[in-house]
Amino acid sequence: MLRQYLYVSTAPGLERDDLKGIIESCERNNEERGITGLLVYNGRNFLQLLEGEEADLLWVMRRISTDPRHSGLSVLEDVAAEERGCPDWLMRHIRLVDKIEDRRASLEEQLPSGLNDQLKRIILNFAALN
Ligand SMILES: Cc1cc2nc3c(=O)[nH]c(=O)nc-3n(C[C@H](O)[C@H](O)[C@H](O)COP(=O)(O)O)c2cc1C
Repeated sequence: MLRQYLYVSTAPGLERDDLKGIIESCERNNEERGITGLLVYNGRNFLQLLEGEEADLLWVMRRISTDPRHSGLSVLEDVAAEERGCPDWLMRHIRLVDKIEDRRASLEEQLPSGLNDQLKRIILNFAALN
C-alpha cells in the first residue's frame, strides 16, 4: 500500500555539510527503496514529504527519526495514496528564495501538478513561514 508521510522537524543552524550529507543519503538510498518526495529547509526547520510502500517508509523513518541532525519531529500527514504526488522526485531538495514574500509563488510553480491539494497547502504555508 502506497503512503504519503509529511513531517516537520527542528534543526537550527544546521551546517551546510550536514545538509549536503542528508541529500547524499537520499541519493544513495531512496531510488533503491522506491522513496520519492521533497525536502525543504528554511534555516531552522525541515519539512519533508516521503512517498513509498509502507515497509520502505518505515525503514527510512526509523533512520530519520533517530538522526541527531534534527529533533522535535512532528507528523503532519500520514495517509494512504492511490498515486505518488512527486513520482519523478527521488528526494527533491527545494531551495527557498531569499525574499519571504516571493516564496509561496516560487514554490507553487515548482510543485508537481499531481500533488494533492491538502499536501500542497501545507507545503506552501510552511514555505511562507518566517
Ligand atoms: C531531515 C532529514 C531527512 C532525511 N531524509 C532521508 C531520506 O529521504 N532518505 C535517506 O536515506 N536518508 C534520509 N536522511 C538521513 C538518515 O537519517 C540517515 O542518516 C541515512 O539514511 C543513513 O544512510 P547512509 O548510511 O546511506 O547515509 C534524512 C535525515 C534528515 C535529518
